[in-house]
Amino acid sequence: MSSSFLQIDHVSKFFPNPSGEGQVCVFTDVTIKIEKGEFVTVIGHSGCGKSTLLNMIAGLDAPSEGGILLSGREIAGPGLDRMVVFQNFSLMPWMTVFENIRLAVRAAYPDWSKEQIAAHVRKYIELVGLKGAEDKRPTALSGGMKQRVGLARAFSIEPKVLLLDEPFAQIDALTRGVIQEELIQMWNSTRNTVFMVTHDVDEAILLSDRILLMTNGPSARIGEIVDVDIPRPRSRELSGPACQARGPDKRSRAASAGGSNSDGRSILSVLRTTSLLSRETFVATPPEEEPMGETKSRDVIKARRRDKKVTIAQVAKVVGKNPTFVAAALNGTHRLTKEEAQKVGKLLGLDKATMESLSKFPVRSDFPNTTDPFKYRLLEIIGVYGDALRDMANEMFGDGIMSAIDFTLDMEKVTGSQGEARCKITLNGKWLEYKTF
Ligand SMILES: Nc1ncnc2c1ncn2[C@@H]1O[C@H](COP(=O)(O)OP(=O)(O)OP(=O)(O)O)[C@@H](O)[C@H]1O
Ligand SMILES: [Mg+2]
Repeated sequence: MSSSFLQIDHVSKFFPNPSGEGQVCVFTDVTIKIEKGEFVTVIGHSGCGKSTLLNMIAGLDAPSEGGILLSGREIAGPGLDRMVVFQNFSLMPWMTVFENIRLAVRAAYPDWSKEQIAAHVRKYIELVGLKGAEDKRPTALSGGMKQRVGLARAFSIEPKVLLLDEPFAQIDALTRGVIQEELIQMWNSTRNTVFMVTHDVDEAILLSDRILLMTNGPSARIGEIVDVDIPRPRSRELSGPACQARGPDKRSRAASAGGSNSDGRSILSVLRTTSLLSRETFVATPPEEEPMGETKSRDVIKARRRDKKVTIAQVAKVVGKNPTFVAAALNGTHRLTKEEAQKVGKLLGLDKATMESLSKFPVRSDFPNTTDPFKYRLLEIIGVYGDALRDMANEMFGDGIMSAIDFTLDMEKVTGSQGEARCKITLNGKWLEYKTF
């Protein structure tokens, strides 16, 4: 099998049924190959699993079946090679525009000088038209401005893959058009691979090379794939003559939809009238066996680290690896190499089986429950900006905060004295203000 840049291979996702019995299949057997530099959009009705799929590419969630390869390597956790622009902006509320972008740049280019970093950040601030707003904090920004910061932050580190989850859904139509243009301009100069989720057919046609249409959930599938051959630069009217839809049997569909396939409007009508967004019969699938042994290993590892009073920073040092990944590996959501696992095993005095579990594929059941919006908000920040968060946490809380990298699993939602929502990092009893979840 020829290998593509980003390969989603027979991926299915099951979640526990809300009734408590069995599992619900969100989508099944999704196979997509995406080439380097491609701009791919996913369209589907609410709940069909678009965000779930995007989160899997981000490494924030794991497939129940199948796997995802990026440059031939299985995605086993988040990383700076994939940047996410979340629908809900996910900016650090206590940081300015400049600082929010710098956070990512610093993490991605640790060897750069302060001046180099600042120049790079300013370049992207200008690209998204935020010059003059550098020192504003997110509360002083409009939705469109916040989204621009998110885009600048994502583009600024030039990731292998940009993951955009309905980036324009919360923005008014006028501003949306402007930011879409900015996105096109940035993409033109970087030609990152983009995987974008949207509800908006026009947006998909305007931006993408290929559109994947998902059927309704549960048990959603990729119903059709439409190639968009409109030459770039494209106009929003899409009235140019050179528009063609080329997917399997797209020509006949275009014809039956009542238009010729040589103008943009026919594609719109094909996409809008297509029956693939109709409901499919739901077939319950038996729950997967959880690898219980691995879960137990994690408990052993955590207990051993506690008993020996070894911090994650110390483990990371011995392994020679980023602490965020080490923390994730000890929690079972990231895979170490055999050599790294051996080093950890030696340091913590683990038995052979427990040590080997560190270099196995992550324990699926350990992925946090993403329906809990509170946990998810922190998870996405920590997961995607892990490196950056470490720097920030060190700055905010001083030395020793590395052990708090575990805090994804140890937090609670509390109402502050002024009625605002806060998240409590129980590990060290310090407060991290996070008001916008
Ligand atoms: N952690 C979870 N546990 C249980 N069910 C979940 C979990 N995460 C998502 N789901 C369910 O999976 C389905 C797909 O969710 P997802 O958020 O991926 O949909 P979506 O296509 O992005 O929808 P929207 O367009 O509304 O954003 C939904 O029915 C959702 O309730
Ligand atoms: Mg979604």
